[in-house]
Amino acid sequence: MPIGENAQYKSIVHEGVVVTATQTPEDVVFLQELIRKERPAVIVELGTFMGGLTLALHEAAPEARLYTCDRLVATEGEYVTTHPHGSHHYRRDWYGSSVVFCRADVLSETMAPELAEAFALPGRKLVLCDNGHKPTELRMYAPRLRRGDIIGVHDWPDEINAAAVEGSLDNYEPFLWDLCEEVGPGLLWRFWKAIAPCNILRTT
Ligand SMILES: C[S@@+](CC[C@H](N)C(=O)[O-])C[C@H]1O[C@@H](n2cnc3c(N)ncnc32)[C@H](O)[C@@H]1O
Repeated sequence: MPIGENAQYKSIVHEGVVVTATQTPEDVVFLQELIRKERPAVIVELGTFMGGLTLALHEAAPEARLYTCDRLVATEGEYVTTHPHGSHHYRRDWYGSSVVFCRADVLSETMAPELAEAFALPGRKLVLCDNGHKPTELRMYAPRLRRGDIIGVHDWPDEINAAAVEGSLDNYEPFLWDLCEEVGPGLLWRFWKAIAPCNILRTT
């Protein structure tokens, strides 16, 4: 996957089209390595934007079920969308049939059917919070995971920090934080692994 970089974002050139991923150069590489090592059966990306990171996640685990969700994403047609915040676009046929695009407000109390399906699937999950309000996403989705599942947040520590996660991760422990620190300030992801059954599954 040819990758170009500017100061802030990675651009992934796919079939001659520049696809934006709002990730630092370190972010995509780290996520792909984590996925190749941990081999989640289900990946949930909260925040599709232009679909660039979705391409990278799919490349790292083509066999995994990958659910990507955004309230501004159309889900049909050859060209899935042109995001109102930019001119790049992406095509549904770049992604395999294991990728599910979901248009929904992920902060809504009513969970989109595609997301409900993702959380009900068996197998280890990786949930990536990269949406409108990361502390709320963490609070909403962390309790839906099982022991061994992983949840990550992007834009640490600018959009979410230690104070903001307090109380949301009782059944989790920090995952790969030493490695994240080693990579340095360019790595904006932080992860936790569930070490016990989480709230929603424990009480239902
Ligand atoms: C930072 S971008 C996602 C970046 C993408 N993961 C990537 O790496 O290229 C955040 C996205 O979240 C979407 N978004 C914001 N609030 C949302 C909400 N409540 N529900 C669904 N999508 C939302 C925005 O439309 C935007 O496309």
